[in-house]
Amino acid sequence: MTKPIFILNGPNLNLLGTREPQIYGSTTLADIERLCADRAKALGHTVSFRQSNHEGELVGWIQEAIEGAAGIIINPAAYTHTSIAIMDALKNVAAPVIELHISNTHRREAFRHHSYVSLAATGVIIGLGVDGYPIAVEAMARLLKAKAKP
Ligand code: DQA
Repeated sequence: MTKPIFILNGPNLNLLGTREPQIYGSTTLADIERLCADRAKALGHTVSFRQSNHEGELVGWIQEAIEGAAGIIINPAAYTHTSIAIMDALKNVAAPVIELHISNTHRREAFRHHSYVSLAATGVIIGLGVDGYPIAVEAMARLLKAKAKP
C-alpha cells in the first residue's frame, strides 16, 4: 500500500465558502477535498485531507507524516506568518512539502509577506485560488515520481 499525501489546512479554512469570498471565493473545503481526492486518484495516489484551528494538532499531524505520508501539502493559513513550531516540525519530514496559499499573500498586508513555513518547503504555490490545490496534488505526484526513479 502506498502512503497517502497529507493535505493539511490551518485555522479558519473550515469557513471557506462564506469567509471573505472576495478573497477566497465561494468554494467550500469539502469541495476542495473532493477535487484533491479525484485528482490524486487519477494520478495513482490517495489523500488524507484534514483541517484544524489548533497549532498543536497541525504539529501532531506533521509528526505523523514522518512515517505515514508520501508527502505533505499544507495551507497553514495564519500560522504561516507566526509558527516556528510548524516550521520546526516540517524540518523533520524527509518527504516533499508543498506550501499552498489560495490568495496572493504578497499582494496583501505586509505581515502576510513573510512565511516561516517556506523555510521548510520544497516548493510554494501562491495566489491561484482554490485551483492551487489540485495543481499542488499534480506537482506532488511529479515530485514523488522523480524521487521513485532509480
Ligand atoms: C491563506 C493566506 C493567509 O495569510 C491567511 O491567514 C489565511 C489563508 C491563503 O490560503 O491565502 O488564512 O493561507
